[in-house]
Amino acid sequence: MVRSGEAQICGISNVRVIARVRPPFQPEKPGGTACLSDSTLEVVSQDGSSLHFTFDKVHGLPSGAGNTQADIFSDVQDIVLSTLQGFNGCVMAYGQTGSGKTYTLAGDLDSNTEQGLLTRSVKHLAQGISEMTDGSEFQVHLSVVEIYCESIKDLLSDGPGSTSLAVQQDKELGIIIAGATKVAVTNESELVELTQQGLARRTVASTSVNAASSRSHCLITLTVQRHLPGGSVMHGKLTLVDLAGSERQDKTLAEGLTFEEGKLINKSLSALGNVVKALADNPSGHIPYRNSKLTRALQDTLGGKARMALIICCSPAAANAAETLSSLRFGTRAKGIMTSVQAPAVETPADSTHAEIAERVEAVCNEVLQGARDMIEEVRTLREENARLQAQANAAHPGLIPGHVDNARGAGVPIALLLMDVITVVMCLVAVCTAVCKVVDLVSRWMHNV
Ligand SMILES: Nc1ncnc2c1ncn2[C@@H]1O[C@H](COP(=O)(O)OP(=O)(O)O)[C@@H](O)[C@H]1O
Ligand SMILES: [Mg+2]
Repeated sequence: MVRSGEAQICGISNVRVIARVRPPFQPEKPGGTACLSDSTLEVVSQDGSSLHFTFDKVHGLPSGAGNTQADIFSDVQDIVLSTLQGFNGCVMAYGQTGSGKTYTLAGDLDSNTEQGLLTRSVKHLAQGISEMTDGSEFQVHLSVVEIYCESIKDLLSDGPGSTSLAVQQDKELGIIIAGATKVAVTNESELVELTQQGLARRTVASTSVNAASSRSHCLITLTVQRHLPGGSVMHGKLTLVDLAGSERQDKTLAEGLTFEEGKLINKSLSALGNVVKALADNPSGHIPYRNSKLTRALQDTLGGKARMALIICCSPAAANAAETLSSLRFGTRAKGIMTSVQAPAVETPADSTHAEIAERVEAVCNEVLQGARDMIEEVRTLREENARLQAQANAAHPGLIPGHVDNARGAGVPIALLLMDVITVVMCLVAVCTAVCKVVDLVSRWMHNV
């Protein structure tokens, strides 16, 4: 069993960025993107200009060497294994449709050589568990959900309530998708069967919603619960993210979607870009996780106590060079993220220590501050949207919206904006009061303990 990387687990580590160039398909002309070494690749644009990118690892040498499914897994296996120690891990595949994201993450689930990261991860976890000698007991659960047009759907169930699931914060488990089916996984064949069922549901949707699978994000999560001898419990999870195709909005709009659909589909990916940028620029500042379902669902696997690998999937074709460049630029931005990987949380039977309560007070304050900032941001977004719609309506029907053309003729719009400001202030006050109550409660419990 490989345990490489465990020594870094409690240090400061960069997000790992890996690029993978798939082999060319038959009618494709290569000459767009090519690997130069195991860490550098070159993109030649259609105007002949060329750019080089360097990442932690690059797969796809013209010889085909070093680009097998097993080679990709060896880049991330330490992240997989760290879930047994209570860490969260995330492996995300980014790239345009047809670049190899699903192949990399799922591959051919049944084939020993072609199976992707998912089956390999479960096998590796099973091996890691069998080699544990401290008497810990483990439970591994699988859940598969899809995010399409900002709506979360359970792919392991068709039952009532399997659509429009909500992202919630659980005290013990962290971020969860409330109501998503979690199935205990005890062996590989069970996992393969369940995953095939889940991915088949995704494909069924794609025939009715115009190839939705290339526009939806699929989150496959393995949660690990470790019961240590003595009663403590550790929680870790590994999320494999098959992102929607990163092609530009003009392409998706050209395929018959409405403007609103196009906007919703792109919302998650652009929100992910903003979170990546914020984490890279100022990880201790405000990170806009709440701006999309995807970033909110991944909140505790993108920053903080988490380890992440981003796999940028690339087409070698010259015709795809512009899309590949944009994917690789996303990878370069992600490379700048420094994650401070803290020790994993272990629940103990008696856990009311001074340090823990102080930590919880800080967490509550941060949560409330974050909530207040999110509210202000949401109001700002609504106001911008309002102004944009007014301008559009005014251009189409001059004089229809009095507040826009002539404030003296219609005070309705300014009053509505004023009301929104008042509501924001009131909501912030409520948030602050809630925080104060929680802090008072925690401090009084601490005083009671000492
Ligand atoms: N590294 C690779 N080696 C061999 N075939 C690949 C590789 N990457 C992708 N493919 C093939 O290319 C096609 C498109 O890949 P897919 O994973 O479906 O793309 P995406 O999920 O990004 O839309 C599939 O037929 C897949 O089997
Ligand atoms: Mg795919």
